[in-house]
Amino acid sequence: MKLGVIGAGNMGTAIIKGYIASGADPKTIYVAGHNAERTAAFAGETGIGVCKNIRSLTEQCDIVMAAVKPKDMAAALAEAAPHLDGQKILVSIAAGLTLNNLKDMTAGYEKIVRVMPNTPAMVNEGMSALCRENGVSDEDFAEVMKIFRGIGTAEEIPEKLMDAVVGVSGSSPAFVYIFIEALADGAVLEGMPRAQAMRFAAQTVLGSAKMVLETGQHPGALKDAVCSPAGTTIEGVCALEEAGFRHAVIRAVEKAAEKSKNM
Ligand SMILES: NC(=O)c1ccc[n+]([C@@H]2O[C@H](COP(=O)([O-])OP(=O)(O)OC[C@H]3O[C@@H](n4cnc5c(N)ncnc54)[C@H](OP(=O)(O)O)[C@@H]3O)[C@@H](O)[C@H]2O)c1
Repeated sequence: MKLGVIGAGNMGTAIIKGYIASGADPKTIYVAGHNAERTAAFAGETGIGVCKNIRSLTEQCDIVMAAVKPKDMAAALAEAAPHLDGQKILVSIAAGLTLNNLKDMTAGYEKIVRVMPNTPAMVNEGMSALCRENGVSDEDFAEVMKIFRGIGTAEEIPEKLMDAVVGVSGSSPAFVYIFIEALADGAVLEGMPRAQAMRFAAQTVLGSAKMVLETGQHPGALKDAVCSPAGTTIEGVCALEEAGFRHAVIRAVEKAAEKSKNM
């Protein structure tokens, strides 16, 4: 199936790069961007095709993925809608736009998949949530799933959980980066060179995430296993609790979800 991506920004390019890295043939991928020079440079770098506008991209491709900001979606889909022929699958990755919003923007088109990916897709470690309109068959859905499984992990969810997904995986890489930066700052405070501190912090986050995913153990149990009585770790845990760390993280997810609901 040919994939066409509207918008060569952060996410559009991350998905394309990740999809190619997972083995997709660049010759089956097309992009239509706003900035002709930047889009051509990206296409040259990746070996994908460029379409001169959304109309030609929609006509040419089987899966049309809109990777533009929510505020630009209505204009982009107005150009695509007349060329959606009932067979093509329309995919939106925009935060806050529901399947119903997308249907309204395409004169009631039924073959729509809504996705919330995240930027770690760029290194094939993305986390994506997908939900679909009734017109999307299991076969069509599997084709879209293949793209997002190619760039990390992907799960189908009920649409009502999409705002939670924005908080827990769409926006949260930024929260994790702040944690990594702060962890490194702490090591710098203790005298470690910055670059080395960053490596130690990032690898520790990566390893801890793998522990959760691969052992299947509850993070609380893994935390308990690191905290020996009267040891160093429980001192650090106590400092985090005193500063309201958990509460701050829960609120960050809640705020991102709330913003997504009200977009
Ligand atoms: N960034 C994330 O972490 C993240 C995570 C999950 C989901 N998302 C969703 O992904 C979507 C894209 O976000 P982003 O961060 O990639 O934004 P972005 O970097 O601003 O990329 C959007 C791109 O679309 C282009 N564009 C706008 N209208 C267009 C049109 N009619 N035809 C062709 N290209 C057009 C823009 O070009 P100009 O700038 O030149 O107008 C820009 O290059 C958003 O809907 C967002 O909600 C983002």
